[in-house]
Amino acid sequence: MLKNIPKELIERINTIYSKEELEIIEKWFNCEKRKTSFRINTLKTTDKEILEILKNKNLEIQKIDFLKNWYFLLNWNEKDLWDLDVFKQWKIYMQSISSQIPVDFLDIKDFNKILDITASPWWKTSQASAILKNTWEIVAVDNNQIRIDKLNFTIKRQSCRNVNIIKWDARLFLQKNKNFIDYFDHIIADLPCSAEWKININKEKSFSFWNTWVIKKNYNIQKDILKSILPALKNNWTLIYSTCTLAPEENEAVVHMLLSNFPELQIVDLNLDYKYSKKWISSFWKNVYRKDINKSIRILPSEESEWFFIAKFKKIKKNLIQWI
Ligand SMILES: C[S@@+](CC[C@H](N)C(=O)[O-])C[C@H]1O[C@@H](n2cnc3c(N)ncnc32)[C@H](O)[C@@H]1O
Repeated sequence: MLKNIPKELIERINTIYSKEELEIIEKWFNCEKRKTSFRINTLKTTDKEILEILKNKNLEIQKIDFLKNWYFLLNWNEKDLWDLDVFKQWKIYMQSISSQIPVDFLDIKDFNKILDITASPWWKTSQASAILKNTWEIVAVDNNQIRIDKLNFTIKRQSCRNVNIIKWDARLFLQKNKNFIDYFDHIIADLPCSAEWKININKEKSFSFWNTWVIKKNYNIQKDILKSILPALKNNWTLIYSTCTLAPEENEAVVHMLLSNFPELQIVDLNLDYKYSKKWISSFWKNVYRKDINKSIRILPSEESEWFFIAKFKKIKKNLIQWI
């Protein structure tokens, strides 16, 4: 059934996941129609207003318990959503639920300053902007002009007014913008990765991008971005790292590298009561990872979710701890 997919990718999936998890993944590979989910844009409306409108049209939805302002469509489909005025007005928008989880794990307060270091096309920036209720500041960085244009377009449509977009290579961002050293309360690092969510078993082109060389390249980019932007984070504040790949070299290995090289970073235990989330993996082929990586989580792809990996860190004040 999975004969078209690169052999090494299948071997990897078989190594990483249990029998039960493989059954879920196989269903995802073969799933023709995935569940659609949408978020209510609280910068423009309220859950109450949207729920009322949908109820009057007999459109059924289901609240997603662990995400704020987030719902599945039930007795209708994506196209019905496009026809709604509230959709055209950007009061609701569609997004995969996995991609929404990392920002919800940040304990964002009203006065916070956030750096979204590889921000385009826009999902996490706009979500953070809504949580901040358009107050304070989000600096959104990306180095790809086409994607920056998308980010610009979308945040305007969604009425996000607290976002400052900067086109720059994330690895060189602090070198050029020294004023941002020790400046941010949160960093969102949703980094470039091998993105297996794009794979569709029926479309050969959808997995032509996949090879192990790309995985190595992504590990290096992720490592370089994370190392270079850490000084931007204030003490006692948080970094969220995420990817939409299953490759341990881009997930557990990156967290392993961070914790081993930066003693000022403490990994925070993430708990998610979600049937498609699982814990980290402790080893992959010859690589054995640190035990504390078990505080991070993986999301399985399913009829409603995509591959995701999430780890959260707190930057602690090193000197103080040494004295105590
Ligand atoms: C996974 S996407 C980010 C998705 C985004 N966080 C969201 O939720 O919509 C990764 C982004 O990293 C950007 N990128 C890749 N290398 C970069 C670099 N060296 N500096 C800045 N951005 C980079 C890509 O252009 C891409 O938009």
